[in-house]
Amino acid sequence: MKILIAGLVTNIQLLRLQEEGGKLGHQVEGCYAADLILECKTNGFDAFLADGRHLKDYNLIYLMVGNRRWEWYTAASYLAENFGTLIVNRKTVEAGYKYYLTPAIDYLRQTQNNLPYPASCVVFNKKGAEAVIGKFNYPLIVKTSAGRQGRGVYLCHNFDEVKNAIEEIHHTGVKAVVIREFIPNDGDLRIFTVGFKAIGAMKRVPTREGEFRSNISQGGRGEKFELDNYPEIKKIAENAAKVSRTEIAGVDIIINKDTGKPYILEVNPSPQFEGLEKYTGVNAALEIIKYFESLRKHSTTPSG
Ligand SMILES: Nc1ncnc2c1ncn2[C@@H]1O[C@H](COP(=O)(O)OP(=O)(O)OP(=O)(O)O)[C@@H](O)[C@H]1O
Ligand SMILES: [Mg+2]
Repeated sequence: MKILIAGLVTNIQLLRLQEEGGKLGHQVEGCYAADLILECKTNGFDAFLADGRHLKDYNLIYLMVGNRRWEWYTAASYLAENFGTLIVNRKTVEAGYKYYLTPAIDYLRQTQNNLPYPASCVVFNKKGAEAVIGKFNYPLIVKTSAGRQGRGVYLCHNFDEVKNAIEEIHHTGVKAVVIREFIPNDGDLRIFTVGFKAIGAMKRVPTREGEFRSNISQGGRGEKFELDNYPEIKKIAENAAKVSRTEIAGVDIIINKDTGKPYILEVNPSPQFEGLEKYTGVNAALEIIKYFESLRKHSTTPSG
């Protein structure tokens, strides 16, 4: 297959996917998400890259483009419909996808499937926060609705800190803010699922003084987590990926250190797997390539 990883260029993960893909006879390429060009005319529509590569030449495109470059979803729909291109992060080309542009839809799906997550309120401003703050105890979490890697996640001990956090989040141009109960913990878990099946997990522990966020990108330390010893947590992670229709997901789960109860924090689409491979030895790149092959095997489309 000729495979494009949209959104990855000079990155260890692309090299790993090229390595494992190459061993199985596939040509794996990457591109900047910002290099997309859509040519739109009454008598013709086309999708190509600034360096001249045509997207219809790829059998499969894995969209790792972040959720603000919606034009990629238009390109993906056009390619899937007209050339049978296989799209990974397929939910982006399905009707009803627009609802997925906020974590609130994941929370709704988790509620509808009785999956555990911290009690949360999504608000747009201080007035909204004031209206619901009585539902929470301090400390609590205030976080952006468009976050990654721990950026825009605050631990607040009083309402002034809540107001400041909302202001900072609004400064980033994000409107919706999530207020959630704080789960006492000694780190969290990042569970990596491919095709809604868990392939590995790592425990992340904050290392910096006073840091409450376990993200590796916030200085967290990773270690292998034996997921097979925790079938309940494995099931929760796989179901979380399934109900949010995230084919390749990084599911964050936190365990209450007093009660042992697990909670889903986030279901991340197009997650990084560098840390997972480093700390667990799982060959995530190979698992992803094998998943692409399974999509092709089951696809009925000419290009697939
Ligand atoms: N409700 C909570 N209780 C305790 N700690 C939390 C809670 N929510 C978040 N955290 C801490 O903050 C970190 C980052 O939070 P979260 O995973 O929700 O956002 P993010 O990592 O920025 O987003 P994403 O996972 O989508 O990249 C978590 O890994 C965890 O350590
Ligand atoms: Mg996270």
